Amino acid sequence: MLKNKDLLGLKDCTAEEIYEILDAAVQMKKLLKSDCKQSDMLKGKALVTLFYENSTRTRSSFELAAKYLGASEVNISVATSSVQKGETLIDTGETLDAMQIDYVVIRHPMAGAPKLLAEHVKASVLNGGDGMHEHPTQALLDMFTMREAFGKIKGLKVAILGDIKHSRVAMSNLFGLKKLGAEVFMYAPATMIPKEIEKLGARVCKSREEAVEGADAVMGLRIQLERQHGGLFPSLSEYSKFYGVNDAVMKYAKKNAVVLHPGPVNRGVELTPGLIDGEKSLILEQVTNGVAVRMALLKLLADYREANL
Ligand code: CP
Repeated sequence: MLKNKDLLGLKDCTAEEIYEILDAAVQMKKLLKSDCKQSDMLKGKALVTLFYENSTRTRSSFELAAKYLGASEVNISVATSSVQKGETLIDTGETLDAMQIDYVVIRHPMAGAPKLLAEHVKASVLNGGDGMHEHPTQALLDMFTMREAFGKIKGLKVAILGDIKHSRVAMSNLFGLKKLGAEVFMYAPATMIPKEIEKLGARVCKSREEAVEGADAVMGLRIQLERQHGGLFPSLSEYSKFYGVNDAVMKYAKKNAVVLHPGPVNRGVELTPGLIDGEKSLILEQVTNGVAVRMALLKLLADYREANL
């Protein structure tokens, strides 16, 4: 049983809770891949997606997860909502709560916005990505994908390369992977690595080759141009040449290593097109697994709410 009404980040989740979600997602993936991906497990429940930043994968996979399990779902389009009239986050949350919703999935540019919302609503709040803080469901689906590929997480060597400084995906993966016993190696231009990341358990490497040497999984991260203020690297072509992952870099990884990316990918920048579309790539499997993991999470949070609220 999960220990909270909300999922705000993996920093505060236990290994047991993470395994509970991953295990439940195995069953959900079977339902998702079946001819009739429909259940009434969440019949009568309602989910709202409230995204203050753009999204393709996270928002639509939460909405589909809710639909596949029989819940109602509504998206609040922030651009055309009363947020534009100056309504605060807490007022928006309390308004949605008054409509008797059970879940709100929020993506917000400010780190901590999901926590603030969770403190003011009865609904379960799921963090769909907050600033440079956490993106817990992305890391859960990444770990699910790695466990599917290798049968375990403990002892895996995971190399994370890219814009680590601005990446909530990197933070959530670091917290989750360390809790489950994986080793995490990171590499990026010095301007894109937070100084304190080693204190959280990452090993910061001096080259791409060192990071990828003997890796089971190699994860590229998107260059987050929208969170940068320029000057962190000379040009996209030079970034790709000196920091991107290509076939030559992948030769340092284990023979059966897999390639991951949370998406959206800047093709030819973080990863070469050949790697994105190649046989080592699990990028589209990550997307499928994102629906299964979010289905599992909605069901487990419903169980928590039934037992505790
Ligand atoms: N990985 C991820 O969060 O993708 P979206 O921005 O499309 O949701």
